[in-house]
Amino acid sequence: MNKTTLGNTEEMISCMGLGTMYFGTKVDEPTSFNILDSYVAQGGSFLDSANKYASWVPGFKGGESENLLSKWMKSRGVRQQMFITSKVGFQYSDVPRSLKKEIVISECEKSLKRLGVETIDLYFAHAYDANTPIEVTMEAFFQLKKQGKIRFAGASNFYGWQLSDANLVSCQQNWEGFCCLQQRHTYLEPGLRSDFGTQLLLTPEIQALCKTKNISLMAYSPLLGGAYVRNDRPIPVHYQSKSNEFRLVNLNETAEELQVSPNAVVLAWMMQCYSQIIPMVTGSSVIQLEENFKALSFTLTNEQIEKLNQAIDQPNKYS
Ligand SMILES: NC(=O)c1ccc[n+]([C@@H]2O[C@H](COP(=O)([O-])OP(=O)(O)OC[C@H]3O[C@@H](n4cnc5c(N)ncnc54)[C@H](OP(=O)(O)O)[C@@H]3O)[C@@H](O)[C@H]2O)c1
Repeated sequence: MNKTTLGNTEEMISCMGLGTMYFGTKVDEPTSFNILDSYVAQGGSFLDSANKYASWVPGFKGGESENLLSKWMKSRGVRQQMFITSKVGFQYSDVPRSLKKEIVISECEKSLKRLGVETIDLYFAHAYDANTPIEVTMEAFFQLKKQGKIRFAGASNFYGWQLSDANLVSCQQNWEGFCCLQQRHTYLEPGLRSDFGTQLLLTPEIQALCKTKNISLMAYSPLLGGAYVRNDRPIPVHYQSKSNEFRLVNLNETAEELQVSPNAVVLAWMMQCYSQIIPMVTGSSVIQLEENFKALSFTLTNEQIEKLNQAIDQPNKYS
């Protein structure tokens, strides 16, 4: 698997991350271990987790994904080769939604314990906190970095202006800012006024901002929960439009031409597009993951990318 530079740092990270949100909850331990082994066999090392994964699954309280990663890393002896992320900021269990200094610091300590590591490679602010001054949050991240508890800081579910503010404040204080942004993003384009609640989109404006500022882009939910390939998963309503019908035709034709699944084309398109995007890829079985990893086995031609980027000039019915 190719590596790519993490924002304005000198760190090289995998061009495709493995999403571990449901590992240890909906995806049982043996299956999660097999998926992790399969990802490593592809040369991958970027594991995406969070403190609250997956507290919303009935019978669980959060921290299960981190606990499972700890167990897997110990059993395989691979901590040094892995690039581990976690996140803080959303509500789970008895922890409120907040990026206050004491929450950022105490949640980091808990994640370090659950992960069984001394340092988290990349620690995300999981969502902007309008009730805490951004300088308070950025100072907390900087303190963690100085103490060696995290190596890099990233943002997720931030608007462009919030990311800019955070990095401006950090720059003024000589603290390190956010080197990457993780947002919701896929091949189909949601209507302009689509509302995904706390999940914020990777808009063209944010892409341009991050390219200019050398901030890495990461995409979550890139495969729309399997909707590109599964009859039991309809295309979500916010993505239903004439122009997306056209994009789907182009996607399926390209997949046919390359003899791979549409999922693989979506991921390859993302990794090869104008501002390279690192997808967080996941699945509930090794078979699914192997289908998705095919994205690493071909390069889209300029003509194929152009075709995939086309959209007919017709207003989205949800915009
Ligand atoms: N920063 C954030 O706020 C945030 C938010 C959400 C997610 N994330 C990260 O992004 C990762 C991915 O998120 P996501 O789960 O929403 O991603 P997704 O790509 O939208 O959906 C993944 C799901 O699609 C189905 N799928 C994937 N490949 C398939 C295949 N080849 N054939 C059939 N079905 C397939 C599986 O569903 P089944 O499991 O039902 O089989 C799989 O669990 C997470 O693990 C997490 O690390 C971050």
